[in-house]
Amino acid sequence: MKAIIYDKSHKDLLKLQEVEKTAPKENEVLIKIHSVSVNAADVRSMKMGIIPKNKIFGSDIAGVVEAVGINVKKFFIGDEVVGDLSAHGFGGFAEYVTVVESALVLKPKSLSFETASAIPMSSVTALQALRNKGNIQPGQKVLICGAGGGVGTFAVQLAKHFQAEVTAVCGKSNVAIMKDLNVDHIINYNEKNFTQSNKQYDLILAVNGNYSLSDYKSALTSKGTVVIVGGSLSQLIKSIFFGKFVFPGNKKLRVLSAKPNHADLQFILNLVTAGRIRPIIDRSYSLEQTGEAVKYVMEGHAKGKVVINVAESTKL
Ligand SMILES: NC(=O)c1ccc[n+]([C@@H]2O[C@H](COP(=O)([O-])OP(=O)(O)OC[C@H]3O[C@@H](n4cnc5c(N)ncnc54)[C@H](OP(=O)(O)O)[C@@H]3O)[C@@H](O)[C@H]2O)c1
Repeated sequence: MKAIIYDKSHKDLLKLQEVEKTAPKENEVLIKIHSVSVNAADVRSMKMGIIPKNKIFGSDIAGVVEAVGINVKKFFIGDEVVGDLSAHGFGGFAEYVTVVESALVLKPKSLSFETASAIPMSSVTALQALRNKGNIQPGQKVLICGAGGGVGTFAVQLAKHFQAEVTAVCGKSNVAIMKDLNVDHIINYNEKNFTQSNKQYDLILAVNGNYSLSDYKSALTSKGTVVIVGGSLSQLIKSIFFGKFVFPGNKKLRVLSAKPNHADLQFILNLVTAGRIRPIIDRSYSLEQTGEAVKYVMEGHAKGKVVINVAESTKL
């Protein structure tokens, strides 16, 4: 099979190569991958030198079950599936992958493979940040910093779904998308810093960007919460080590470590199939162009998700 192998000596670090297709173990399925999306997790791991065992990145896949191990209970050959493989060694930038059945759910028939692959990690991260860490409530004022990327575009839609009043912080090129998603207020960070508005928020999601912890603290209401999802490494490190000293009172700082989860992915798929939220797909590439796709995400200004269409028959 063809796969994109991490190769330190290659100019893009990623190289298209012919590798052996593995057979599924007892509790695994073999999936023919139709589409896989690129995540900041691929990019960050690559930059930090955290390389998957088989040297193949790519976590969010949508494809068709081609073979099943003898102990597989949930899936049959021909089933269309979607899942996040990040807890199971990645392997999505390839024509085929073998993975434990517990990493997968059935893909709704109404969604194309391309659409389905844009969903798992970004949307579940946004959901766990807003609901689990942020305890989002109807009517709350919510600020999403870094609203334009994969996680951010899901976060603004989910916050609206939870009936919050949403303010999105994004660059100029994402303003139109935020308007299209019916965000209540938009702060273009090229023109204004959210800390200058003197507005206060019940919940802040720090998805991207680099602000001081005291900036977040001053923009919170007296019992507000900031959830650190991503952004600069220095922001993350300061949150982990100094967060409790900067936030000693009723204001809370929480750091998210999202975990792939069937129930959460199914919750999102139900919202997408009901037309309540939708993945925003910026660009799509072929498997051969994976290096370009990763480079584009690495530049840090993707508008929603970037997808790699592995099989020709991906679009319904
Ligand atoms: N905690 C967890 O468990 C977890 C899970 C998944 C992801 N993450 C992290 O979450 C972050 C976002 O992931 P992602 O998949 O959404 O990444 P992404 O798609 O690559 O995000 C790119 C977006 O970030 C925006 N951005 C860049 N600089 C910004 C700034 N200074 N202020 C505001 N927005 C800015 C860009 O929009 P503009 O062009 O508008 O600037 C772009 O749309 C990453 O740091 C990732 O590592 C954490």
